[in-house]
Amino acid sequence: MIPSNENELTHAVLDRLTGASDPRFVQVMSSLIQHLHAFVREVDLTPDEWMKSIQFLTAVGQTCDDKRQEFILLSDTLGVSMMVVMLQQARAAMGGGEQAAATESNELATQATVQGPFYWEGAPEHALGANIAEGVVGEPTYYSGRITNTAGQPLAGALLDIWSGDGDGFYDMQIAGASMAARGRIRTDHEGRYRFWSIRPTFYPVPVDGPVGRMLDGMGRHPNRPGHIHMMVSAARHVPLTTHLFVAGSPYLDSDAVFGVRPSLIVDFQPHPAGSAPDGSTVATPFWSAQYDFVLEPSAA
Ligand code: BEZ
Ligand code: FE
Repeated sequence: MIPSNENELTHAVLDRLTGASDPRFVQVMSSLIQHLHAFVREVDLTPDEWMKSIQFLTAVGQTCDDKRQEFILLSDTLGVSMMVVMLQQARAAMGGGEQAAATESNELATQATVQGPFYWEGAPEHALGANIAEGVVGEPTYYSGRITNTAGQPLAGALLDIWSGDGDGFYDMQIAGASMAARGRIRTDHEGRYRFWSIRPTFYPVPVDGPVGRMLDGMGRHPNRPGHIHMMVSAARHVPLTTHLFVAGSPYLDSDAVFGVRPSLIVDFQPHPAGSAPDGSTVATPFWSAQYDFVLEPSAA
């Protein structure tokens, strides 16, 4: 078919998928082509604007290296990453539905949020109650809680893989030559309890020195994320969870640059004067405590 107008053009491109063998690929590509064509038509894209778009995407690609993933940042700031997270968690809840009914489930799994670019695989495993942020700038904070499944059963030996920026809003990865800091893995005890010390995270900007930063600027948007600590929570025969705990009262909770805030993940950090801590230790400076229970969905298999 030789298309003679813009409507026929969309059909002509779709027709070229007849040789593809993977039905899911055909579904995704057909929808992408139709939405892309509809978008170009709707905004009546000019050749100049098309060229600027190509140059923008080229710059996004050229900004990526083994430490910097500008395409993920683009996806994060346009809300696409969070859309995928929300769809995935809804899918897992449906998949675990029969399982949940069989175990008389009465709780919802903890909500997931974006992973972000600062996860570093292989953080050191610490003893329960350890300080994972020794020597890191920031106000000391005692984190504790339980990990259970949706039936309320404690998950012994569940793994918490934790990371955050420091008290000034910088991740170790952002400091040239720095080694791992404010990261660690902790396992729950036989009652599914966890505890560790780290710092109280503060708000910080996503990287803005590349094309995504210029895009945010052009949109009149700020680049900040509210204070949060990242956790990857996993246990045998349960759906792994990637989430954060957000600091209640932090600036930008209602305007997170990557749309990752979920009200159920906002935690009141309690202030304490210097002195005895909940784990029986003595702290020389004022400190905070944060308590949160994580709930994992049993996996379908
Ligand atoms: C983060 O929370 O580490 C993050 C998430 C998305 C983009 C940039 C940073
Ligand atoms: Fe973060």
